[in-house]
Amino acid sequence: MASSSIPPTMRAWSYKGRGQPADVLKLTSDFTTPSPSNLGPNDVLVRIEYTALTPSASTLISVLPNWIHTLPAVPELVFSGRIAALGSNVATVRPGLTKDDPVFGGTTTQLYLKGHGALADYCPCPAEQVVVKPEDISFRDAAALAGNGVTAVEILEALALKKGDKILINGGSGATGTMLVQCARAIVGESGSVVATCSEGNSEMVKRIGADETIDYRKHDPLHEYLAKEHSETRFDAIADTVGIQDLYAHSPEYLHENGRFVNIGAMHVQSGLHSLFGYIWSQCVNLLWPKILGGTPRWYKMVTATPNQSTLSRSGELAEKGLLTPVIDSEWEMEDVLEVGSSTVISLLI
Ligand SMILES: NC(=O)c1ccc[n+]([C@@H]2O[C@H](COP(=O)([O-])OP(=O)(O)OC[C@H]3O[C@@H](n4cnc5c(N)ncnc54)[C@H](OP(=O)(O)O)[C@@H]3O)[C@@H](O)[C@H]2O)c1
Repeated sequence: MASSSIPPTMRAWSYKGRGQPADVLKLTSDFTTPSPSNLGPNDVLVRIEYTALTPSASTLISVLPNWIHTLPAVPELVFSGRIAALGSNVATVRPGLTKDDPVFGGTTTQLYLKGHGALADYCPCPAEQVVVKPEDISFRDAAALAGNGVTAVEILEALALKKGDKILINGGSGATGTMLVQCARAIVGESGSVVATCSEGNSEMVKRIGADETIDYRKHDPLHEYLAKEHSETRFDAIADTVGIQDLYAHSPEYLHENGRFVNIGAMHVQSGLHSLFGYIWSQCVNLLWPKILGGTPRWYKMVTATPNQSTLSRSGELAEKGLLTPVIDSEWEMEDVLEVGSSTVISLLI
């Protein structure tokens, strides 16, 4: 269903080739708006209110080969906004969803590879990947819930945490880490224990949102040696690594229970080209497939790739409504100022 109020061109940040975001990203106001008449039958077009700026977007801009996707491409995947147009079959797959509904969600890798992203005025995405925003949650918080909130929900499901557990969250001050600390605290309760790594300046904030103990990763490097020394007697039941440090998993038997679970999402070190990406993929294959009897790490391992869908989005919205998940947002930026964001520690959003 086309909408006459959608302008033919829009503001969008886009890049025409691989490189460092600061070098290749350009803001234009005459970028062609995704046409409502070209929407997939099950897709919607969203008028973006907020986009969460993520480290993953910078990684994709700097490592994806040009031939793999349509250029110019708009980065970022998750957003909050309002439905601007609906594909011809949306009434069947998502009955009740209507134009102007306030939503949060995320677009797909497939649409991203066709050049569509959320750092623009409009973004297409499958109707299955948006949910109506709860009234009490602001558009600003909803964009954060669509990305790191959904990631935290999926990590916690994989970890199967329960009351009384002891959990380590590596990267506890980050966008994902701050969500995990809050939810983990609520699940393990006062009889459990939440330990999180962060830099010294963020320690107070991380304790305020629920950690019992913080570890300054800069002071205790390598982290796995510190953990083996301090946490080998009372080991962890679960470890969530939002940074992606291979040694943390490789040495985990020294501080993670035999039946403990290790979930990784991080790729913070994948920044500088394809060799780094392939190295990361290789380490994931080793962690998942290398047989224990041939020296594989004898601990349960999962690499979570978060997907915003009806279930994960609704769950993160519900947790936020109950006050168990409050996005920690360190700054908010106008669309024009995206390149000034730099390496922000928690989360930054675009109006
Ligand atoms: N798989 C998925 O579905 C998925 C979803 C979301 C994110 N991710 C990935 O997860 C990672 C984290 O994302 P995010 O948005 O949470 O990042 P973020 O907001 O930038 O947070 C990074 C966190 O890592 C800490 N940190 C930085 N360098 C570190 C180091 N060398 N050792 C230990 N901790 C370090 C930071 O601590 P301080 O700031 O206190 O120094 C902070 O707590 C990224 O690689 C991102 O691409 C994956």
